[in-house]
Amino acid sequence: MKPVILLTGKNGQIGAELLRFLPQMGEVVGLDRAHLDLSKPDEISRAIREIRPQIIVNAAAYTAVDQAETDGMMAQAVNGEAPGVMAEEAKKIGAALVHYSTDYIFDGSKKTPYDESDAANPINVYGKTKFAGEQAIRRSGVPHLIFRTAWVYATRGRNFLLTILHLATEREELRIVSDQVGAPTCASDVAAATSRILAGICENSNAAFVLPEASGTYHMSAAGQTTWYEFAQAIVEKAGATSHDLVWLAAATRGRPLIARRVIPISTAEFRCPAQRPASSVLSNSRLFQTFGVALADWNTQLQRCFVSESIGANLLAD
Ligand SMILES: NC(=O)c1ccc[n+]([C@@H]2O[C@H](COP(=O)([O-])OP(=O)(O)OC[C@H]3O[C@@H](n4cnc5c(N)ncnc54)[C@H](OP(=O)(O)O)[C@@H]3O)[C@@H](O)[C@H]2O)c1
Repeated sequence: MKPVILLTGKNGQIGAELLRFLPQMGEVVGLDRAHLDLSKPDEISRAIREIRPQIIVNAAAYTAVDQAETDGMMAQAVNGEAPGVMAEEAKKIGAALVHYSTDYIFDGSKKTPYDESDAANPINVYGKTKFAGEQAIRRSGVPHLIFRTAWVYATRGRNFLLTILHLATEREELRIVSDQVGAPTCASDVAAATSRILAGICENSNAAFVLPEASGTYHMSAAGQTTWYEFAQAIVEKAGATSHDLVWLAAATRGRPLIARRVIPISTAEFRCPAQRPASSVLSNSRLFQTFGVALADWNTQLQRCFVSESIGANLLAD
């Protein structure tokens, strides 16, 4: 029998992609904020008790990193507390919890990629609340998979890719931070990797959908590393070179030509924003590969896919 999968945040970048893949694995009940507000613990409990899923995939989060600095209570409710409520409810009904976290739980001082055993030390409110959510899940003892990803973008939603494309239609010169290092990761790739892992687990188990030995925290980001500056350069170059008639690209540029001629590197100090960001938050994805045999493509390949096909996730499950 196929499991019932409760998906939260179904309209988010990763949530919307999961909504395309997960139906191959089970019967998906996707909820948005209007139907399940994660800042309200009672709503979470009621939804889980009514739906009685075997798997909960929590793709909802308070992701406005700068806004979280002045809206800490809401960020903490959604990121820090809701995952704990979900975990406790999941445990009561024997469900497993799949949850996403972030590279921003690290302080960015490590010069080599972070692995799962490295100590968290978040330097902004968003990172602190996300780490609190992770800890609440681990404390609960529920079978869980926490996937930490990074620098997420998609061809919809609000993200760096779409911001750069928009700016490139308005400005000849883009000034972009070049001293933060990370791995831009496409939401489709995260959703496809998640779905492959869940499909494998569902095939191999009857009652408990997450094998106890697989329960834990995994890094799940694009391979390779880059800076926001290089990422912006790649976006402008690929958009300029694309010969495809892409609906998402036309929407991002509102059909206007790109006028950006130069991308100029600037320092973090020159680009002031409310939340501090880690200088280097590259994640090592070895544990994910060793445990599940799943590896995400490098960031440049993931980006290239966006400019080749409208439906970037279509073949990812088979990759
Ligand atoms: N974006 C990144 O760069 C990034 C990087 C690393 C890790 N992550 C993690 O990856 C996961 C998915 O992120 P994403 O980029 O897909 O985020 P996203 O596009 O911002 O989507 C988040 C979703 O959560 C929903 N949400 C926010 N507050 C809620 C509430 N109170 N109740 C119910 N739903 C609520 C939003 O609903 P509305 O549409 O109604 O606002 C939205 O659909 C999150 O755990 C995030 O922390 C993201």
